[in-house]
Amino acid sequence: MSFTVNQISPVLGAKITGLDLGQEIGDNLVSEIRQTWLEAGGLLVFPEQTLTTEQHITFSRHFGPLFGAPGETPLQETVSRYLHPDHPEIYRVSNQTEDGMPDGKPRGRAGAGTYWHSDVAFKKRPAAASILHAVTIPATGGDTLFCNMTAAYAALSDTMKTILAPLRAVNDFAQTAANQFARPVVVEDDLKGANRAIHPVVRTHAETGEKSLFVNPGTTTHLENFNSDESAALLDLLFRHATKPEFCIRHSYTQGDVVMWDNRCLMHYAVNDYGDQPRYMERTTAIGEVPE
Ligand code: SIN
Repeated sequence: MSFTVNQISPVLGAKITGLDLGQEIGDNLVSEIRQTWLEAGGLLVFPEQTLTTEQHITFSRHFGPLFGAPGETPLQETVSRYLHPDHPEIYRVSNQTEDGMPDGKPRGRAGAGTYWHSDVAFKKRPAAASILHAVTIPATGGDTLFCNMTAAYAALSDTMKTILAPLRAVNDFAQTAANQFARPVVVEDDLKGANRAIHPVVRTHAETGEKSLFVNPGTTTHLENFNSDESAALLDLLFRHATKPEFCIRHSYTQGDVVMWDNRCLMHYAVNDYGDQPRYMERTTAIGEVPE
């Protein structure tokens, strides 16, 4: 099997055509996909795939152990209600209910990820790849934005790079919980420390060796060893810098798209502009290494 690669933008992303991800993929092809992903800055789009949930999981396993898989670290308990009932490795994002009734059981997390973030950054071993299958998409809207934290880091002055080099940041699900989840949904045990981690502000990618900013507005609460005003000012500067249009792309879905992004060097933002038009996405999340 071979595939065609088309660059999406100069800053980030490639589209891969000619592959059916539902077929068994051998080691050589996995290596080629991985290499293409890394060269594209950590974002691949495989358009118009018709994958079963099982096929999605099988494909995803090539890119690391999955959060929620038997014997692996689960995602935070707060989102367990949104996992696929038969496949705990699948996190479901949706504005639909199971029975279609407005007050029915949610089919997935509504409005998930409507803020700049890197998935699961509050764990000691945060996410590497997230692989999202667009099962149902709205006629218009429901795009996802991505920003390239390697390009953002590279564009900083040498002086700023020197300042950032020794810094570490606290990442805590409590911040996401406070800003993004209704209080009754949050499982209080999630706020007791298991979802808090201190990571370097600049991390070196384990595969490419490139440096990226690794802070995000969703989970980064503060920088160590600064007072709160200093920390807030510096983080605000980094967030505004990283999300400049020059470092971003906006992906508009076609039915069946599989989008694979690298949380080690990207942030993303799910645009919640589609009202009650149905949107249903299934996501797997690979466990990455401890950031260094
Ligand atoms: C997420 O993983 O943050 C959600 C992405 C999306 O639904 O576009």
